[in-house]
Amino acid sequence: MLAAILIVILICFSIVIFFGAPYLPTLKKEKLAAIELLDLKKGELLLELGSGDGRMLKEMAKKEVFCVGYELNPILVLISRLICWPQRKFVTIKWANFWTEEFPDANGIYVFLLDRYMEKLNKKILNREKKVPLKLVSYAFKVPKKKYVQKKGALFLYQY
Ligand SMILES: C[S@@+](CC[C@H](N)C(=O)[O-])C[C@H]1O[C@@H](n2cnc3c(N)ncnc32)[C@H](O)[C@@H]1O
Repeated sequence: MLAAILIVILICFSIVIFFGAPYLPTLKKEKLAAIELLDLKKGELLLELGSGDGRMLKEMAKKEVFCVGYELNPILVLISRLICWPQRKFVTIKWANFWTEEFPDANGIYVFLLDRYMEKLNKKILNREKKVPLKLVSYAFKVPKKKYVQKKGALFLYQY
């Protein structure tokens, strides 16, 4: 029984590598710096692509920013929904592959992906139906051939 549970957990955490970055959470200092860079206001909308354990969503929701997190790992979906339960009015966590989702009109996107996904992400953002102004903050990885407007440590802010 224990072995079966461990295998399921292992599958949940490893299968995501076929679709995006494996789970590695943003640390507190970087999380706070990303929030500062995004500079979203009360009532605005943040998307987090690969929302992990929900720590970023929770912090943003405390500022009354509406948040949608997309997460493929069902264990992390469950954990993040629990973590964000007190902020549930502001937080939606979708068990979904963000590559196949149509994004709502958001004011900001936060990602911690891998280098090889950044160009694909850039195209997905550029192909949005409505081109409302959007800030992207990426942890650790730059968007190829696009100039960032600000850099804080390993965080890059882009404007679309
Ligand atoms: C590097 S972690 C970052 C987690 C969180 N954003 C943070 O910064 O703390 C990447 C997360 O994206 C999720 N993920 C990877 N590819 C995905 C995809 N295509 N759709 C949804 N989630 C994905 C992983 O399960 C993992 O939780």
